[in-house]
Amino acid sequence: MYEDRIRRQSLLDKIVTPEEAALLIKDGMTIGMSGFTRAGDAKALPIAIAERAAKEPIRITLMTGASLGNNIDKILTEAGVLARRLPFQSDPTLRAAINRGEVMFIDQHLSETVEQLRSGQMGPIDYAIVEATAITADGGIVPTTSVGNTASFAILAEKVIVELNLSQPLELEGLHDIYIPTKRPSRTPIPVVSCDSRAGTPYIPIDPAKIAAIVVTEKQDSAANVEPPDDGTRAIAGHLIEFFKHEVARGRLDMTLNPLQAGIGSIANAVLHGLIDSPFHDLRMYSEVLQDSTFDLFDAGKLNYASGSSVTLSAECGGRVFSKIAQYRNRLVLRPQEISNHPEVIRRLGVIGINTALEFDIYGNVNSTHVDGTMMMNGIGGSGDFARNAYLSVFVTKSLAKAGAISSVVPMVSHVDHTEHDVDILVTEVGLADLRGLAPRERAPLIIANCVHPSYRDQLSDYFTRAKARGGHTPHLLEEAFSWHVRRRETGSMKA
Ligand code: COA
Repeated sequence: MYEDRIRRQSLLDKIVTPEEAALLIKDGMTIGMSGFTRAGDAKALPIAIAERAAKEPIRITLMTGASLGNNIDKILTEAGVLARRLPFQSDPTLRAAINRGEVMFIDQHLSETVEQLRSGQMGPIDYAIVEATAITADGGIVPTTSVGNTASFAILAEKVIVELNLSQPLELEGLHDIYIPTKRPSRTPIPVVSCDSRAGTPYIPIDPAKIAAIVVTEKQDSAANVEPPDDGTRAIAGHLIEFFKHEVARGRLDMTLNPLQAGIGSIANAVLHGLIDSPFHDLRMYSEVLQDSTFDLFDAGKLNYASGSSVTLSAECGGRVFSKIAQYRNRLVLRPQEISNHPEVIRRLGVIGINTALEFDIYGNVNSTHVDGTMMMNGIGGSGDFARNAYLSVFVTKSLAKAGAISSVVPMVSHVDHTEHDVDILVTEVGLADLRGLAPRERAPLIIANCVHPSYRDQLSDYFTRAKARGGHTPHLLEEAFSWHVRRRETGSMKA
């Protein structure tokens, strides 16, 4: 019945219902599950596991590529299934459980999870649960809309459960490039020398004897919730594009720019959209999540090639793209996230990394994860993989949050994800600060003048002036450094 998708006859016997497959998962197990930014997640089995948990206690460690769609993290959290979760999430229900201390969340650089698993520093994995487009005659697994950590989960796990998803187009086959780095310390260089390099196989090679069960589903990926560009995000895009033009004028970039990476979210998507009407051409992406803007740039004839780990699209864009995905196949590759985010490859390709900050400080330290240094938002994701190793590390954010009660530029960030040493360019809708080659005492006035909202500028200048009088390489008034966050907690606003 599924001959076009299960091409190894003997595996047809492995087809079971999700409820039967869920019985294989035992309390205390470690599960590696496919899914990266709402793309390619296992969809039927997690629900069946949650239903089982209503009848008997079952708590697991769940690893994925990144965040999941279809409310899976919400459903698993509400069922009490998640004891430990890594390496990224973006679900409000799970976020609340993490912040209550009920789920232990390990917030990890996305390139690192499988390195730690492979070397036995974490794990072992009992079951990999893997969404597939097809299973080859040799038992190789063809992933769907993401690769994420799926390949290494399947290779390293004791057993594998495949979710064969009939709603994922067969034309996805050929899009993936599964390359697994060799063992350290004698690892050979990763043979990715340009965005379009192919170094591996179009399927995940595993021993078919490890496939314990196959579940068939037709559930679709969740659509991305991308906010359309607004005045603020358009202004941020405009500042960055002007900056790129200056870099070209100074001979540091050419009109094709360097390979681009753009993080999740509306601002990064708006920046890429801004490139459609720019003079730049023959662009390339070496990124992790490919959003609507990637395909809009393809369709506008601006983008030549995109390398990523997942394709996460809005409902409208997904409808348009997936019906003709074969047309993009020679311009698109999906890689394991340890390759899409590999520090050495990012450094060598000279990637321009554009990621979003929650807040940054007057010296260029960036907080992307913790509100008030305490409450987890989503996680660092791949932003650190790119920021530390990028040719240009750019962080964007609007200058205000919560209707002006919060300044996104503060005296000292309440949590540091990206240190001042990793950050080159800061952009808000107010303007852009180029921090390259500047000492902390030179950075602060530039950031205050170019990035801070006018309603907070005097207040921040006053802090810096008084801190400078006290001395130091990176002047601070320790007794006041977090006073803005404290004031917001106590009065509802950071305004003095
Ligand atoms: N303090 C407190 N809350 C803040 C804040 C600040 N300084 N800045 C923003 N927020 C709030 C917003 O008000 C919003 O709250 P809401 O959900 O209640 O409306 C929320 O944080 C999200 O902010 P938003 O402006 O909508 O930005 P976003 O959706 O683009 O997300 C990040 C911004 C930083 C949370 C997101 O980009 C992220 O998780 N980054 C880390 C991972 C990453 O960079 N991955 C990149 C590689 S894929």
